[in-house]
Amino acid sequence: MSKVVVMDHPLIQHKIGIIRREETGSKDFRTLVSEIAMLMCYEATRDLKLTDVEINTPICKTTVKELKGKKLAVVPILRAGLGMVDGMLNMIPAAKVGHIGLYRDPETLEPVEYYCKLPADCANREVFVVDPMLATGGSSVAAIQMLKDKGVKNIRLMCIIAAPEGVKKMQEAHPDVDIYIGALDDHLNEHGYIVPGLGDAGDRIFGTK
Ligand code: PRP
Ligand code: URA
Repeated sequence: MSKVVVMDHPLIQHKIGIIRREETGSKDFRTLVSEIAMLMCYEATRDLKLTDVEINTPICKTTVKELKGKKLAVVPILRAGLGMVDGMLNMIPAAKVGHIGLYRDPETLEPVEYYCKLPADCANREVFVVDPMLATGGSSVAAIQMLKDKGVKNIRLMCIIAAPEGVKKMQEAHPDVDIYIGALDDHLNEHGYIVPGLGDAGDRIFGTK
């Protein structure tokens, strides 16, 4: 069964408190989502493996640490996942970026695929899928299946707010994918929105609606 990590860092909690507020406008919302992604990235990469390498400082030879093995990639689920990319890249600037386009059909709540462009060597990378919202779980489950179909084996999911329903669906569909969450909310309402949540993440980031 996958690991579910709910991040209790005070800075993450404080910033999530602000993006939940209905009066927070798009400019602040975008900035905060990016900052939260950066802080979450720091926590979600805590167990990456290191290796020793010998270098020369201006003074002498010494041994330092560097990230071992697999290279990293960030894959946002469009649209709202785009808001988390800059924050991730601030922490891991060498990561490649792929894009998966999915939207939720408002009637059925089923994900509809419209775009997929991944780094050519994606299968050999450790991939961080990012999306601010894990609601029914349909979008994340589908995005991760698209990655697996392309041969990606090492995947983590990062979302800012999750519903228990989405976490359950993810764990059932992809028990090998660890999930990093900023806040675990109470439930979904009859329209599939997270309660208390923050409303429609894509609309709030891009100022649509
Ligand atoms: C939102 C959100 C997730 C999805 C979560 O995207 O960004 O991708 O809904 O819901 P789920 O867990 O029930 O699938 P949306 O479909 O609104 O598209 P958008 O980002 O383009 O607005
Ligand atoms: N997508 C969102 O943007 N918000 C929700 O609460 C659920 C799905």
